[in-house]
Amino acid sequence: MSDKHDAGGVTTTGHVWDDDLGDFTNQPPKWWMLGLTASAIWCVVYFLYYPSFPISSAHGFFKGIAGWTAIAEMDADTTIVDEVRGKYEAKLKGMTPAAILADSELTEYVTRSGKVLFGDNCAACHGTNGVGAADAQGFIAPILRDDDWLYGGKIGDIYTSISAGRQGVMIAHKDVLSAAEIDTLANAVAAGKPTSTPLFTEKGCVVCHGPDGKGLAAMGSANLTDSIWRFDGSVEGIKRTITYGVNAGPDARVAVMPSFTAAGKLSDTEIKKLAVYVYKFGGGQADAPAAPAAPVSAPAAK
Ligand code: HEC
Ligand code: HEC
Repeated sequence: MSDKHDAGGVTTTGHVWDDDLGDFTNQPPKWWMLGLTASAIWCVVYFLYYPSFPISSAHGFFKGIAGWTAIAEMDADTTIVDEVRGKYEAKLKGMTPAAILADSELTEYVTRSGKVLFGDNCAACHGTNGVGAADAQGFIAPILRDDDWLYGGKIGDIYTSISAGRQGVMIAHKDVLSAAEIDTLANAVAAGKPTSTPLFTEKGCVVCHGPDGKGLAAMGSANLTDSIWRFDGSVEGIKRTITYGVNAGPDARVAVMPSFTAAGKLSDTEIKKLAVYVYKFGGGQADAPAAPAAPVSAPAAK
């Protein structure tokens, strides 16, 4: 081993330790030198071609001979996207939600942007994808995925719910009914048979919930026979709803669907997209076949 650094007559830099370990003056292999030179050249070319080094605070940075910028590249890409979208967006402007729904290509386009709009504007109250979000009082806002609607599940009803907002009102009955009457009514409602007690008619529940207790879409009064509860559906919870009402002052249940047209929260096109998106959750109800005399038509062009 001791004769290792004499092998081939290679000279050392003079650094030799222990006679065994030395600093040879060998050239690095040719392939390695070529690689190094190539990458150095590449580096210079790259630096000159693209925006690179800072010059001074007054002159900014060297912009590169190619004139490339990330922003210009993004702008070019967005222009392409806008062109594709523009065609759809222009069409949507003049169409009713029902007409959009009848066109499968537009429906698919609309459903995609609807998903984003829903996440941004609606999911906080209605839950991700409309599955409903609950607190201790019951659902903050109704589930939108089922076919149980307060205000109707036709495309036009859904559009109106979103654009104008909704606020069902049920009066408080604490001064109208005795505790025993509230108890009887709450038990009948909890059993899904509100009309089983004459109080339902005598005390005026029919006026809003209808003679069969199934609710009236015009006022968004709940169906009391289907065991689907917006608020706490226990006997105690129902007593509370009857006693203090809904949107009717102190201690009442609160149920406010904000208007998305008011204060320009969303554009009309965005509301149409959302209406179709919500309809497509699966609970949407088909319109009755349109009477030939009253075709659905786009607003007259100006
Ligand atoms: C601040 C909470 C809140 C937000 C945000 C909200 N909603 Fe609502 N929404 C409600 C409540 C509460 C109701 C029920 C109103 C009632 O009971 O009278 C409702 C009702 C509805 C209804 C009618 C349901 C039925 O059964 O008839 C639809 C449709 C609807 N919302 C869609 C939407 C869409 C789409 C968005 C987003 C653009 C949205 N909501 C945003 C709280 C909200
Ligand atoms: C002025 C109209 C009106 C009257 C009168 C009325 N209700 Fe209501 N009720 C409503 C509306 C509207 C709702 C739905 C509130 C909502 O979800 O926005 C409702 C909701 C309810 C609920 C909650 C249902 C759920 O899903 O959690 C119960 C229970 C109920 N009513 C029972 C009664 C009973 C019993 C009476 C008679 C003593 C009565 N209501 C009288 C309008 C009325």
